[in-house]
Amino acid sequence: MAADHTKILFVWLSFIVPFIFTKLAEADNYIVQMDLSAKPKAFSGQQSWYLATLASLSANWRANTNATIPSSKLIYTYNHVIQGFSASLTPAELEALKNAPGYVSSIRDRTVKVDTTHSFKFLGLNSSTGAWPVSNFGKDVIIGVIDTGVWPESGSFNDNGMTDVPSKWKGGCENGTQFNSSLCNKKLIGARSFNKGLIAHNPNITISMNSPRDTEGHGTHTSTTAAGTYVQDASYFGYAMGTARGMAPGARVAMYKALWEEGAYTTDIIAAIDQAITDGVDVLSMSLGLDELELYEDPIAIATFAAIEKNIFVSTSAGNEGPDVETLHNGTPWVLTVAAGTMDREFGATLTLGNKGSVDGLALFPGNFSASQFPIVFDACEKASELRKLGQKIVVCQDPGKEGSLNDQFNSVQVAGNAAGVFITNNSDVEVFIQGPFPAMFLEQKDGDTVLDYIKRNIDPKASMEFKKTFLGTKPSPTVTSYTSRGPSYSCPSVLKPDIMAPGDLVLAAWPPNLGVARVNEDLLFSNFNLLSGTSMACPHATGVAALLKGAYPYWSPAAIRSALMTTSDLIDNTGSPIKDTGDNLRPASPLAMGAGHINPNKALDPGLIYDATVEDYVNLLCGLNFTAEQIKTITKSSNNCSNPALDLNYPSFIAFFNDRDAKRNSKTVKEFQRTVTNVGEGSSTYKATVTPINGVKVTVEPDQLVFKEKNDKKNFKLSVEAPSQLDEAVSFGYLTWEDIGGKHVVRSPIVATSYSIEK
Ligand SMILES: *[C@@H]1O[C@H](CO)[C@@H](O)[C@H](O)[C@H]1NC(C)=O
Ligand SMILES: *[C@@H]1O[C@H](CO)[C@@H](O)[C@H](O)[C@H]1NC(C)=O
Ligand SMILES: *[C@@H]1O[C@H](CO)[C@@H](O)[C@H](O)[C@H]1NC(C)=O
Ligand SMILES: *[C@@H]1O[C@H](CO)[C@@H](O)[C@H](O)[C@H]1NC(C)=O
Ligand SMILES: *[C@@H]1O[C@H](CO)[C@@H](O)[C@H](O)[C@H]1NC(C)=O
Ligand SMILES: *[C@@H]1O[C@H](CO)[C@@H](O)[C@H](O)[C@H]1NC(C)=O
Ligand SMILES: *[C@@H]1O[C@H](CO)[C@@H](O)[C@H](O)[C@H]1NC(C)=O
Ligand SMILES: *[C@@H]1O[C@H](CO)[C@@H](O)[C@H](O)[C@H]1NC(C)=O
Ligand SMILES: *[C@@H]1O[C@H](CO)[C@@H](O)[C@H](O)[C@H]1NC(C)=O
Repeated sequence: MAADHTKILFVWLSFIVPFIFTKLAEADNYIVQMDLSAKPKAFSGQQSWYLATLASLSANWRANTNATIPSSKLIYTYNHVIQGFSASLTPAELEALKNAPGYVSSIRDRTVKVDTTHSFKFLGLNSSTGAWPVSNFGKDVIIGVIDTGVWPESGSFNDNGMTDVPSKWKGGCENGTQFNSSLCNKKLIGARSFNKGLIAHNPNITISMNSPRDTEGHGTHTSTTAAGTYVQDASYFGYAMGTARGMAPGARVAMYKALWEEGAYTTDIIAAIDQAITDGVDVLSMSLGLDELELYEDPIAIATFAAIEKNIFVSTSAGNEGPDVETLHNGTPWVLTVAAGTMDREFGATLTLGNKGSVDGLALFPGNFSASQFPIVFDACEKASELRKLGQKIVVCQDPGKEGSLNDQFNSVQVAGNAAGVFITNNSDVEVFIQGPFPAMFLEQKDGDTVLDYIKRNIDPKASMEFKKTFLGTKPSPTVTSYTSRGPSYSCPSVLKPDIMAPGDLVLAAWPPNLGVARVNEDLLFSNFNLLSGTSMACPHATGVAALLKGAYPYWSPAAIRSALMTTSDLIDNTGSPIKDTGDNLRPASPLAMGAGHINPNKALDPGLIYDATVEDYVNLLCGLNFTAEQIKTITKSSNNCSNPALDLNYPSFIAFFNDRDAKRNSKTVKEFQRTVTNVGEGSSTYKATVTPINGVKVTVEPDQLVFKEKNDKKNFKLSVEAPSQLDEAVSFGYLTWEDIGGKHVVRSPIVATSYSIEK
């Protein structure tokens, strides 16, 4: 039963699509890149050329093999994300296509992993000062969300008081099943859906909701986290009660539904990105990703390159495969990669003992629990049959701390059906249990000892429980969640990923009211708001904050906005200590887990210096990765002669690999990084560098002082990292800080030295 419950939670967390179908004559969908300059003049447009190319393949194939009707079929013609199309092709057709004039490359279609009332306050957002008023709450910034669709009737899409849709907007609102284009408004300004790729994979499929309407909840939740408007008295069955709102309550939302209950394919996702570019979004939010692909094989990396060329900021999720290293996806140098942290909020219950003493613990039971007293007993909680004999009592279990022991105890109590379970555990990761379908709470050892002591000292121990409590000010917070995926990046190890951490744990946001959110015993419960966890929830927080920056600085490049977010982020939690990692025994979090730090919207508004990067810089990076001309063209869509290859992107973070297993003892290696910083503060300023000591590593910065005469001045510096060629530690890290005289700006970058090597 507990396993069942875990499964439900993880469907929400990561939206893994288990879509199995029988392939038609082994045809598969391919995304095909073409060289438009090879298009014969006879064809008026690219689509007619692609159709003719596909028709010629079929003819050849039929002549050669004498087989029955081939299945070649154009799925989408793309305008921005690639020069080319997607089509359903048999292996023979694909081979023939490779010899067709203008063919550049092809990628097989894949399925994709999809990875509040309070988070705005935790991030320090305030209506009277800082990023909200300065950006006018993100007014007129358009956020495109690629997801499962939207529930347009949600209060979070209320457009009361919003001005007219910006005239630059070219998007639309599609009719469809249970979706009328009149459902869009001044907040939800666009809604479209993309499923031709899904249908090409399975022509007989019945799409249960053929419209932008959300049947899974994920898209409603992520889009309202980024930019929902104010909804009073929002809560999850009384937990997290308050006024819900997104990070950029003034921004507009356009939903691009490309993830379907029936499956999620890259052909549809990049069609959605293509349309979002055409429609004129300013920011793209994608809580999804593909694991372990090279940049030129990853359709999302390729499509987002086109978005960056159009100055669109792209925010993505790191994935939920932590705490192992090298699990991160979207480690793409031109996007923001967001890790998930906790907030200073917990949900729970209070256990009041017969002696009037009480303890608080974690809980998220959504049902109504009797206010009366129950007998309370201690039990080993090993056997459901033994527990059942105890009947309607509150059962207290002590977790022996073995692998899976809490799971087993939880399971037993659930099966036994006692009045409630009280679980004493040192396990810091009880989130998968607290949403369980029976009354359960989780106590720390010291509170558990209080309860056990009371039970021992009384002949007739009794207790009552009160659920639906929200505790604020949880310490320490934020912490890095254990599930957030860790770097280094598979596709581009030389760029440190993730970039930043944002709240992702138990985030309250809008939810379709017809989708069950919890179970109590066998009954499904419904709610207009739901609490979800995952990097899917962290990503839209960063999206919303990026929209605020875009509102404040419309002409900043995506790299400048990312730099501002990263260099101003927080390293210190609310106890004054370095942010800790739940997935690493609460040790200080490494930049491979949380990136530069925890997002701080108000500080990001005034970063002092930025590390900018242009499209050309990304091309030079691709050259530095030694990609072939074709691989580079697949990403950039243009020919590049790689006159200036450089792995060393002008990025606001540093990662150096010291993994030479053949190195002689005591041999040292120096890795150098060139950086250019731009003064975005007003007037002249002088910045001084400091570097925190890093175990086993020597870091130098030259020069260590930068004098800027005026705004937009640029200065260069070199950072050198010297360490043993084979570093002793897996990961050593520290920080470079540029601080201006007068101390108004602190521009901080993480530095990682690691002995990991990416196995490909
Ligand atoms: C093609 O198929 C037809 C009908 O089955 C058959 O008569 C013909 O001999 C075949 N031709 C070749 C080249 O295999
Ligand atoms: C917002 O800022 C004002 C002025 O600095 C302050 O008085 C108020 O307490 C802040 N509100 C919150 C919710 O922090
Ligand atoms: C949607 O349907 C309505 C009513 O049938 C029609 O008036 C409207 O033009 C349609 N909109 C689109 C975008 O197709
Ligand atoms: C869409 O909404 C409009 C306005 O409410 C209504 O007139 C129209 O009949 C609706 N169309 C459909 C297809 O439901
Ligand atoms: C699709 O349906 C048609 C007609 O019912 C059937 O002949 C065909 O085998 C089906 N294809 C698949 C892939 O199920
Ligand atoms: C809990 O009680 C409230 C108020 O009486 C009621 O609306 C709700 O349906 C109850 N919840 C359950 C799960 O029975
Ligand atoms: C839980 O932690 C406490 C304090 O660190 C320790 O005394 C106790 O033995 C631990 N219990 C288990 C079951 O690991
Ligand atoms: C690219 O090739 C050069 C020359 O062979 C080599 O020195 C460099 O290490 C390679 N870079 C990568 C990222 O493999
Ligand atoms: C490479 O491209 C750059 C910029 O387009 C150009 O200036 C340069 O001459 C080219 N070099 C070669 C060797 O073609």
